[in-house]
Amino acid sequence: MQTKVIQINKENPSFENVDTEEIIKAIQKGDLVGCPTETVYGLCANALDDEAVKKIYVAKGRPSDNPLILHICDYDMLVSLVTNIPENAKKLVDSLWPGPLTIILNKKDFIPYSTTGGLDTVAIRMPNNNIMLNLIKTCGLPLAAPSANLSGKPSPTSANHVYEDLQGIIPYIIDGGDCDYGVESTIVDFTVTPPMVLRPGSITIPMLEKIIGEVDIDKSLIDFAFNTSTPKAPGMKYKHYSPLCKVTIVQGIPSNVTSKIINLAQSSNKTVGILCTNEKERFYDSLSNVKVFTLGSSTDLKTITKSLFKTLRLLDEYKIEIAYCEGFSYDDEGLAIMNRLIKASGHNIIEV
Ligand code: TXA
Ligand code: MG
Repeated sequence: MQTKVIQINKENPSFENVDTEEIIKAIQKGDLVGCPTETVYGLCANALDDEAVKKIYVAKGRPSDNPLILHICDYDMLVSLVTNIPENAKKLVDSLWPGPLTIILNKKDFIPYSTTGGLDTVAIRMPNNNIMLNLIKTCGLPLAAPSANLSGKPSPTSANHVYEDLQGIIPYIIDGGDCDYGVESTIVDFTVTPPMVLRPGSITIPMLEKIIGEVDIDKSLIDFAFNTSTPKAPGMKYKHYSPLCKVTIVQGIPSNVTSKIINLAQSSNKTVGILCTNEKERFYDSLSNVKVFTLGSSTDLKTITKSLFKTLRLLDEYKIEIAYCEGFSYDDEGLAIMNRLIKASGHNIIEV
């Protein structure tokens, strides 16, 4: 299969010319389309079409018990898909949608179990990207969309990443530029009381608590450094985000972290990659046999989330054999960053 990449301007997207008409037809007849969202690129299909949804699992090599998020374009669509909307869920979506927040509610019967991985609950979000919103609106359908990477690979934050993973496997990719956030949406489960965060993201725990009060956090997200408990979101238990090389996180007192990484890099006979903040780059720059990748400023975690997956993919491009990454605190967006890094490293952390 030939994969066609179609450029669409995210400031002023339209699905009314010849190229884009093809995309709408593809979705309506049950084909897959890679499309940008504000978090990461999604691999979209008609969420209500059992056969179309099954193609997503095959294309990604995704385990079938790992449910998909339904993407919607307005509140009426939410009402049409779930049995009830708790007051706190309404409050949260009123202030944060469209945006990087996914909520879990009880599904109506007509949503196929292939979409929800056999669960009676469904994950829903309204993305803050005009291309995706217009696509959903023009199709008039909720779109199931996991991240548009091969299962296990870092999530794609550009159309090129989608092309790298899925060329020849899917018919269309919409290129709408780089994603704004770079990590996937925060997931909050409203089928339990208090609501529970199943995946951390750019909408942080303090932001949620400011709007709806107390939230629980899936215990496995706290224990995840130790890999001791099973997460509630099925997808969170799988190995993820992994570059080909071995990644080690070095966590602890900043000066200890720097000297430990220098030590490890100097004693290695492999091609070493070091992932660090801009502020730390100068400490590693003169090491031989080392390529330094800066993630952004330690004082602006948003720059780090935005570059994280892109940098993990670069490790492969530069044929890095072993990578050391500075750890981050678990506060604010740090929780989402550490969650992704720890999975990318296969829970390989050194405390110093
Ligand atoms: O930002 C995002 O959320 C991106 C973009 C494309 O929207 N999507 C995304 O989808 O990250 P995916 O499939 O890579 O991750 C969905 C996560 C998985 O961990 C899955 O297990 C969980 O959501 N999930 C989906 N439905 C669920 C449900 N009913 N109960 C618990 N977890 C659920
Ligand atoms: Mg994913």
